Amino acid sequence: MIRERAYPVEPWHIRETQLDMDVLAQSESVFALSNGHVGLRGNLDEGEPHGLPGTYLNSFYELRPLPYAEAGFGFPESGQTIVNVTNGKLIRLLVDDEPLDVRYGELLAHERILDLRAGTLHRTLHWRSPAGREVRVHSTRLVSFRQRSVAAIRYEVEVADDKPLRLIVQSELVANETLPPQSRDPRVAAVLESPLLAEEELTTEDGGLLIHRTKVSGLRVAAAMEHEVDSPAHTSIESEGYEDWVRTTVGCVLEPGQKLRVVKYLTYGWSSRRSLPALRDQVGAALAAARLDGWDGLVREQREYLDEFWDAADVDVDGDPEVQQAVRFGLFHVLQAGARAERRPISAKGLTGPGYDGHAFWDTEMFVLPVLTYTHPAAVRDALYWRYSTLEQAHERARTLNLEGAAFPWRTIQGPESSGYWPAGTAAFHIAAGIADAVRRYVLVSGDRQLEREIGLTLLVETARLWRSLGHHDRNGQFHIDGVTGPDEYTAVKNDNIYTNLMAQRNLLAAAEVVMRYRDEAFHLGVTDEEAAAWRDAAAGMHVPYDEEIDVHQQVEGFTRLQEWDFAHTPQDKYPLLLHYPYFDLYRKQVVKQADLVLAMHWRGDAFTPEQKLRNFLYYERRTVRDSSLSACTQAVLAAEVGYHELAHSYLREAALMDLHDLNENTRDGVHMASLAGAWIALVAGFGGLRDHDGVPSFAPRLSSRIGRLSFSLQWCGMRLRVDVRPHQTTYALHHAEPDAVLELRHYGEPVRVTCAEPVTVPVPPPSEDLPPPEQPPGRAPLLRLPEHLS
Ligand code: BGC
Repeated sequence: MIRERAYPVEPWHIRETQLDMDVLAQSESVFALSNGHVGLRGNLDEGEPHGLPGTYLNSFYELRPLPYAEAGFGFPESGQTIVNVTNGKLIRLLVDDEPLDVRYGELLAHERILDLRAGTLHRTLHWRSPAGREVRVHSTRLVSFRQRSVAAIRYEVEVADDKPLRLIVQSELVANETLPPQSRDPRVAAVLESPLLAEEELTTEDGGLLIHRTKVSGLRVAAAMEHEVDSPAHTSIESEGYEDWVRTTVGCVLEPGQKLRVVKYLTYGWSSRRSLPALRDQVGAALAAARLDGWDGLVREQREYLDEFWDAADVDVDGDPEVQQAVRFGLFHVLQAGARAERRPISAKGLTGPGYDGHAFWDTEMFVLPVLTYTHPAAVRDALYWRYSTLEQAHERARTLNLEGAAFPWRTIQGPESSGYWPAGTAAFHIAAGIADAVRRYVLVSGDRQLEREIGLTLLVETARLWRSLGHHDRNGQFHIDGVTGPDEYTAVKNDNIYTNLMAQRNLLAAAEVVMRYRDEAFHLGVTDEEAAAWRDAAAGMHVPYDEEIDVHQQVEGFTRLQEWDFAHTPQDKYPLLLHYPYFDLYRKQVVKQADLVLAMHWRGDAFTPEQKLRNFLYYERRTVRDSSLSACTQAVLAAEVGYHELAHSYLREAALMDLHDLNENTRDGVHMASLAGAWIALVAGFGGLRDHDGVPSFAPRLSSRIGRLSFSLQWCGMRLRVDVRPHQTTYALHHAEPDAVLELRHYGEPVRVTCAEPVTVPVPPPSEDLPPPEQPPGRAPLLRLPEHLS
């Protein structure tokens, strides 16, 4: 775990004040820079020591076998895995005759700062070599938001003692770096070891390029670099290259206090179709563009991009500075994952690490996109186009499964199902409804009718078709979706998962509605009036299992009569349960990995009464172990809605601090994008009470006792709504709108009209009292309660 105070609490920075080798891999994820196209882990400039080297390009993957001991029909045979591409971050330094390596000599000072407003990673170190020579190094790294294939590093070395010093800087591109083993299966490991075949290497005096391709997926990648050198002394510069590496070497002798400065421009391009010369030219052109801006220009553009983002997306939290820092950190990583993904996936770890093989899951549509929809909708538009681009494969998958419409993959990079475990893969059909809901929300919030017509209609229709063919009406007309897995992966292949059913219901109704708006286009998709009527019938008959005896909803049919999990005899070191208990046992008992029915009560809150929500929340809270990082934020949202604001605050902290404190002890593989997005969700949907069920933004704000004020901005049809919540009142203000624009919203169910003329302030009703105390399974209370000085 990253120690409690590893990163001092500051509103706009993640600062690491000393280098802790034990958490190097975790910090590489935390300090990863990306723009959604290129991702650089926060590896040290000199490459070593490292936890996990990593450089990724969105959708640059290799195919690997998915081996089964006992295969079955429809099991995917190969999976996609993100590849660690050519490393262009490397800058090694020879100090007199010794390489700078923090494991040797003396590290007198070391600091790294991720600057959330500047979009840069800054590093300062003061090192004494074993021979006693001292240097100070300042490096600043960025992955450009404006120029998607460009990264740049400014590396500055200063002589920090009193004698002249010879310095040699070696800046490199290295392909096929040796990585720690990623898979225990030798068949898989073999494919991922040295995954790149050399195609071309080229050097100029001050840089060079490498072109490689993958062995099986046939993708080609080009990486190029160029340097600008600034030094007061005579400086030599030369480059050499081989199959898997290119090196530019800069040498000089400096006097005490003098500085050598090297700016490295780095560009990447990849393609499955473009020829080698075309790719070579592409990275060359990107280098020219980067040099045209120069280092200062790139830094300025980065800042401008982020100023615009924060202007629209920032959340202000008074009363919990750790959450303030963490929610900005989370938003920054969410932006990094999606900003320039441009019709490629936003994966569960973004481009910060190799976790989950670089796959995108439902995390994208149900956790990341809701945040981006309200803060940076352009990225959502792209992400939906990416899903749409995988439609053919989803059709094919549906055909294989004897279903109609589109069966989108549970996990994938470029479209095919890459899950080798069908009960928590293929059976998790709910991803289809998540995609449909993301379309619905994006169109509602952005007003983008062009997307609705071009792809939204098709996505809604094809997912509705899936539901209609997956479910069936019983003899009483009730519609059931049997044998599926909901979000809770400890309850698999069951009938009538409420989350799935209610989300499918909304999907079916949205499809039936949208085909009325685009009759011609729907006709081309073969939709008839009968088909749309069948969707409505299925939605109307949707079964929602309820236990009348104890008055709670059943997460799946029969859930409440299953045997209880023996929590009292489950030692704490047996969590996460999936690593210590067989699935067959988890599946047949009342134990919940992650919010499922509780998630349904968030996104389909319109299908439950307030009393049901409270009873359900208490029932499932006692059975939810949170073995997934996708749970805490939802528990925060519902805890806040039913009246447990202090508990909501603790869950908010867990979601927000997941990576800054490495709570699940796997941040090394990449940050938890859904949980980071969840920090925003917990604040805005939890304490702000934002819902968008019925086409207007509605709020029910109420803060925990520690938060004195919460304010956030939301985009709504091109306008910007600023919501300022205080303990007893909320102010709604409209910005960036035409002078006569009006935004109709709801505050605790009451209509409120907001215009540009003046903000509207309304009271927050007092909280309900006398709620029964909520309980979690023993030892499974939220991980991060408020620190002493705050509670
Ligand atoms: C969760 C899934 C999630 C996946 C990727 C799993 O542990 O149970 O809901 O999609 O992680 O984040």
